[in-house]
Amino acid sequence: MKPLSLPPRLLMGPGPINCYPRVLSAMSQQLVGQYDPSMTSCMNEVMALYRQVFKTDNRHTILVDGTSRAGIEAVLVSCLEPGDKVLVPVFGRFGHLLCEIAERAGAEVHSIEVPWGEVFEPEQIEQAIREIRPKVLAVVQGDTSTTMLQPLEHLGEICRRYDVLFYSDATASIGGNPFETDAWQLDAVSVGLQKCLGGPSGSAPITLSDRYVDVVRKRHHVEAGIRENSHQSGVGSRIRSNYFDIPMLLDYWGEERLNHHTEAASMLFCARECAINLIEEGIEPSIARHKRAGDAMLAGVQAMNLVPFGNLKHKMHNVVGVEIPDGVDGEQIRQQLLLDFNIEIGTSFGPLKGRIWRIGTMGYNARQDAVLHTLQSLETVLRRAGHKLSGGAGVDAAIDTYAGTAV
Ligand SMILES: Cc1ncc(COP(=O)(O)O)c(C=O)c1O
Repeated sequence: MKPLSLPPRLLMGPGPINCYPRVLSAMSQQLVGQYDPSMTSCMNEVMALYRQVFKTDNRHTILVDGTSRAGIEAVLVSCLEPGDKVLVPVFGRFGHLLCEIAERAGAEVHSIEVPWGEVFEPEQIEQAIREIRPKVLAVVQGDTSTTMLQPLEHLGEICRRYDVLFYSDATASIGGNPFETDAWQLDAVSVGLQKCLGGPSGSAPITLSDRYVDVVRKRHHVEAGIRENSHQSGVGSRIRSNYFDIPMLLDYWGEERLNHHTEAASMLFCARECAINLIEEGIEPSIARHKRAGDAMLAGVQAMNLVPFGNLKHKMHNVVGVEIPDGVDGEQIRQQLLLDFNIEIGTSFGPLKGRIWRIGTMGYNARQDAVLHTLQSLETVLRRAGHKLSGGAGVDAAIDTYAGTAV
């Protein structure tokens, strides 16, 4: 077989996206032993860096090895004992994923739904909490399937009033949209690298409040082969997953450094670099850059006689849904963009399958040139497919948005 040589795609879908070059370089570092002082200090640095990314003082801020759903699964399977109630407000595909993972953990799952393209008012969630009295509220912040961003800022206070643990999956939104773990009183948050953080998927940073950790520590059972007399078992039922057992993960990341899995070191180096990259840019400047790119892409598609999907008041900065115009074959357009222009845009799932494209502007690709190339190329393939538009209007609108001169 020949050496791997992939086409130089510009990834403008809902993630994954092209990595920051410095993140790719970090992954090619030689390995050191798992308990080498340079490795353990790198782990400590990662914890400190992600406290900044999550905007939290939580001591318990670590990586779960695996894709973003590994973080979701670790948070939910560790705190939900069979029969525990969880409330999941579902406004897209990833809300269904939270339900599915919670069900598999044996929880009693209650969901409420709004139509795709909308989000929940805090009152709707409070009313459901009052009726159901769940142990956990699990809610996605940015659901890439619909491009909507659920406001979270009022939910923490509600959760505290009803003594509910508040968890959010911010995989697709962190770094490109405001996120405040402590100010919004979140108890658990999980994310991934492959969206606004500009890395590949494969590591899931999580942060956990003391309140959350107190709950899961009751289920602390150290595995037999490494258990010592000093280890006391908790009173709660044993967590159903060994790999995603948060108390054991905390023992491994904490002072005891109790052996658990073999750290996915290259992904740790990569997660470290993603965080440094974000912090060097500044979290607010990064959010502003994502907003500018998202606004320019939105203005561009609208100027090309295309209709954006969903309630734009709640659109994520880093992805826009675009209705596929009548008479246009959505898959053919995507194919031509990919094969003729090396640009990938996204399709969609569930009720939106075949109805919308999803165009992302995130991480390394939240850049003016990436926005303009995508709009220019999309214009060409749409025009050739018979869609009526005014030539150059999309790129002009995006340039005006960047220049701050859009009318
Ligand atoms: C909001 C959200 N949650 C979870 C996931 C699942 O992530 P992964 O595919 O990395 O497991 C995604 C992926 O797109 C996502 O957008």
